[in-house]
Amino acid sequence: MQDQNILSRIQQIDGLETLQLQDAVVKLAELATAEARAHTTPQEQRLFLQRWYGNDPGYFWLTFSKVRSKAPRESVWSKFGLLQMLKGPANEYIQWGMLSQEPKEGFDLLREYFDTLVTNATDEHRYLLVRFLWESRNEGIKSTISENWLKKASPDIKRVLGQNFNEFSRHAEHLLKVWKAQVETSSEKSALAHEHVDLSLPGVQRRIGSHHLIRQVLQEIEDIFFSIGFSVVEGPEIETPYYNFEALNIPEFHPVRDDMDTFYLDLPKGAPTPLLLRTHTSPMQIRTMEKQKPPVRVIVPGKVYRRDNPDATHSFIFHQVEGLAVDSDITFCDFTGTIEYFVKQFFGPGVKTRFRPSYFPFTEPSVEFDVSCIFCGGSGSAASGGTCSKCKGAGWIELFGAGMVDPAVYGFVNYDAKKVSGFAFGMGVDRLAMLKYQIDDIQVFFQNDVRFLPQFP
Ligand code: DAH
Repeated sequence: MQDQNILSRIQQIDGLETLQLQDAVVKLAELATAEARAHTTPQEQRLFLQRWYGNDPGYFWLTFSKVRSKAPRESVWSKFGLLQMLKGPANEYIQWGMLSQEPKEGFDLLREYFDTLVTNATDEHRYLLVRFLWESRNEGIKSTISENWLKKASPDIKRVLGQNFNEFSRHAEHLLKVWKAQVETSSEKSALAHEHVDLSLPGVQRRIGSHHLIRQVLQEIEDIFFSIGFSVVEGPEIETPYYNFEALNIPEFHPVRDDMDTFYLDLPKGAPTPLLLRTHTSPMQIRTMEKQKPPVRVIVPGKVYRRDNPDATHSFIFHQVEGLAVDSDITFCDFTGTIEYFVKQFFGPGVKTRFRPSYFPFTEPSVEFDVSCIFCGGSGSAASGGTCSKCKGAGWIELFGAGMVDPAVYGFVNYDAKKVSGFAFGMGVDRLAMLKYQIDDIQVFFQNDVRFLPQFP
């Protein structure tokens, strides 16, 4: 009941919520004084002290914590009226004691008040405030008593008053001393508990990233070709039309350029040559042969760009691995053997392969290379019945283009077409990855979605 009374009286303070903190604290201080005055029997006073300064609900310390969090420096305490609020009852008791014929009663009350304050000053800041309340030269209880009580007391009670005061002082000093030691050890303890390192805790785990699936597949492809004597070269993603087209036997108005409708760079007027994002890795065939005499055995992994509209199987950026082998006596058998070896290493020995005639301006003959459908095992029908959706019932999946290097290409790199022969291939890495890892949307490779990436650690 008492709690509720205090609480409801606090709530009755006009505009407590909207007041500035400082004003609110002053209002509370006034209330604290009034409350102290209103409680006349020692029992009531004790109860009031417990409720106002005790831990539960401890209005004063609650307010103190709020003020401190807003104004952490000690010097602002008194300014903000906290000291007034703390001192309110003390003032009452001191005055009451003065009027009393029995000073001991006044000191007993004061003692209870002070003990309640000290025992609830559970941290160093609270402790310092209580200490300040006790010994502050202008505002402290000590000086108030001696100024207002002792000095003004009539000679007949001065001696008793002095004795009582000395006793109280000793008690207060002792209490503060003992309490200080306790507060210090407990805050030290709590600091230690804070800093205690529990070695059994799992620690902060930072997830280690992994290579992107495309990077992993490129590595697989590179490893397979490494093992049969190919080396890796890389080339520029910005190319000249000469390397991207002309030197690959694709003259300006050749219809295959339509498929490679491309990204040209905006260049200043008078630039020596137009530039474009390469549409395939094949230009590196030319750059490699320009630099190197046969034998040549290279693969070229890299990004390529086309003006494709994005859908589940198209992206304006994707990856290729180009291959080129040129020597004095390379035959079509070397070509098919190499490609089949690669595919069986990559997809597993069970896959069947086939070559279909095709056309590329830089290979002659040209082929399209297929594997038996990885999803239906080449049967053309889905496990659940009906036709396989991946190969559309054909039992075969188109993998990539390849062929024997067209002799016309050798003309661009000063190779003697009568003395050398070779083969080339160009595979879409994204497509190979999709087939091998059963991914049905090429876009996931470029979206960097963390729901996708960690599936391939
Ligand atoms: N460059 C071709 C493309 O992107 C792929 C290709 C086909 C590359 C045949 C080759 C090849 O080296 O021989 O469509």
